[in-house]
Amino acid sequence: MHILLPGPTPVPNAVEQAMLTAMTDHRGALFEEVQTRVVEKLAAVFGAPSGQHVAIFPASGTGGLEAAVQNLLAPGDRVLAVETGLFGRRFSEIAEAHGIIVDRLEIPWGQAFDTADVLSRLEGFAYRAVLLTHNETSTGVLNPVADVAAALKRAGSTILVLVDSISGVPSIPLTLEDGIDVVIAASQKGFMCPPGLTMLGFSDRGRDAVLAKRPGRFYFDCTPYLKGRLPYTPAISLWYGLDAALTLLAEEGEEARYARHRQLRDIVRAYATAGGLTPLVADEVASPTVTALQLPATLNPSQWRKALAARGLQISGGLGPWHDTVVRIGHVGYLDVADLWAGLALMAPELPHPNAALEAALQASFRHQ
Ligand SMILES: Cc1ncc(COP(=O)(O)O)c(C=O)c1O
Repeated sequence: MHILLPGPTPVPNAVEQAMLTAMTDHRGALFEEVQTRVVEKLAAVFGAPSGQHVAIFPASGTGGLEAAVQNLLAPGDRVLAVETGLFGRRFSEIAEAHGIIVDRLEIPWGQAFDTADVLSRLEGFAYRAVLLTHNETSTGVLNPVADVAAALKRAGSTILVLVDSISGVPSIPLTLEDGIDVVIAASQKGFMCPPGLTMLGFSDRGRDAVLAKRPGRFYFDCTPYLKGRLPYTPAISLWYGLDAALTLLAEEGEEARYARHRQLRDIVRAYATAGGLTPLVADEVASPTVTALQLPATLNPSQWRKALAARGLQISGGLGPWHDTVVRIGHVGYLDVADLWAGLALMAPELPHPNAALEAALQASFRHQ
């Protein structure tokens, strides 16, 4: 089966092999080495000052969002949540579930937020934090989170910046150094591992905020992790996998990784447009990791996805208001141009203009070389 999903994503053989490593005492010397290595490598990916700014929990990304809320916010705090789709809304809902007062800035589906708009909405209230989504996976929009964070930092603002980058980092540039206080990631997207780990990276200010003990957390308390301890049994096999994946990411290098994801996006968009499918997001804000495509009236998304699966290809459906007319193609993680082409070939028969789609994809495949 070929998968072009925005998570889970293909897992490299080296990661699979690493996950077969025999169990060991997670409080023993061997695992301590793995722990140190993994948090240091992750800190480098996040642009965090050190491994003592990283926490890793056995949970999917949603658990990481909840951990960020529990560790940096407390009931009664007021935040601005910028929602550009389903996952932005989830971040708000988690905060509300924890007694946070959430003011929402709702952006129409398919659009990115505007930095000046967010900054002006932050004026006037004593906000504790702003909740942002880096890469909105439900729409395929890339948001200028670094611009908001950098502007707040320049202005000396005390507002904490919480960023969901679950489908962004490490495939799309993002660093805590831009003024982000916590970035939330998950293992099953650009990190090329199976689902099951959520990873949080903190700035110095974010770490200090965690350590200034506030009520309302237990399992997801990041404090011990930020002091180098693992209070509960870690998902040992996934840690081994993540260790191997981080080595592969470092070997490829970040610039090559970012360029690869941009190229995959450009190929998909050229293919879709020429083939008669409509990208729902403008070029300037199009995500490098996932593309939402409006189908022609003749093509039903769920029937088409079933037909593709029978042919050996899985793509994702539309979410929320886009459920009945949209598909999403993921191009993130352990995927190169040849892998993408297998999917493009399998999708071509039902496109209104299959030959034009393949020709455009061919052009886009060589344009980047
Ligand atoms: C941007 C974003 N936020 C949150 C989530 C939720 O992550 P999970 O399904 O791992 O809990 C996802 C998953 O696709 C996502 O893409």
